[in-house]
Amino acid sequence: MTRLNKYIADSGVTSRRKSEELILQGRISVNGKTVKELSFKVDPEKDIVCFDGEKIARQKHLYFLLNKPKGTVTTTNDEKNRRTVIDLIRTKEKIFPVGRLDYNTTGVLLLTNDGYFANLLTHPKNNVPRKYEVTLDRELEEDDVQKFLKGILIDGVKGKFTSLKFIKRSTKKIVEVTTTEGRNHFVKNMFKALSYSVTSLNRTHFGIFSADIPAGTYRILSSPEVKKAIETYAK
Ligand code: URA
Repeated sequence: MTRLNKYIADSGVTSRRKSEELILQGRISVNGKTVKELSFKVDPEKDIVCFDGEKIARQKHLYFLLNKPKGTVTTTNDEKNRRTVIDLIRTKEKIFPVGRLDYNTTGVLLLTNDGYFANLLTHPKNNVPRKYEVTLDRELEEDDVQKFLKGILIDGVKGKFTSLKFIKRSTKKIVEVTTTEGRNHFVKNMFKALSYSVTSLNRTHFGIFSADIPAGTYRILSSPEVKKAIETYAK
C-alpha cells in the first residue's frame, strides 16, 4: 500500500506537498469516491485514482548507476553537442542525473526519473558522503592536510573534507578525500584555494553506492538498493 500523496507525486502530476493540497481541495478520487484524508493509502496494483475526474497512472521509476567515463557532460542535452551521460544509457524514459560531475571527472553517477530520490541524495541537509580519488599536480604538504580538514572558505562559504588519506606509499600526489559537499567543482576549488591543481578526479563512492562496474558501463539499481538509500538518507 502507498500513501495517496506519494502515488500522485509518483505519477508525475506534481510534488508530494502539492499533492496534499489537491487531496484537501477534493480534486482526488479513489475508485470513484472523493478522498480528503491525507493519510489515505492506495493499492497501486488495484485502485483507480483520478485527478479532476481523469485517471492518473503511476509512473514506473527507474534508477541507474553509471561509472561515468571522461569526456562526457552531466546534462540532459548539451548546446555544444558533446556526448552526455544520458547518451550512454539505453532507455526511452526521460531520466536525469542526480547531481553532477565535471566533463573529465570519472566515477559514480546516479540517474533516475524519480525527483524525490534525486532530491534526497543531493539535498545538503542529508549529508550524503562523496568519496573521491584525486591526483594533484604536486605533492600534498602535511600542513595543508589539517587546513582541508578544518575548513577553507570557498566563494565565501566554509567547505571541508571530512577525511583525507594518502593512498600510495610512493607518492603524496594521490589522495582520497571524503566530503558531504555537492557544490559544483567543489574538490577542484578546495585544492585550488591552496594552490594545487587537480589533474585527475574519480568519484569512487556516492552515499551507499560505489563504482563497482567498469568505466563507461552502467547497471540498474535493485529495489533493495533504492530502498536502503532512502532509508539511510530520509530522516
Ligand atoms: N568536485 C569537482 O571539482 N568536480 C567534480 O566533478 C566533482 C566534485
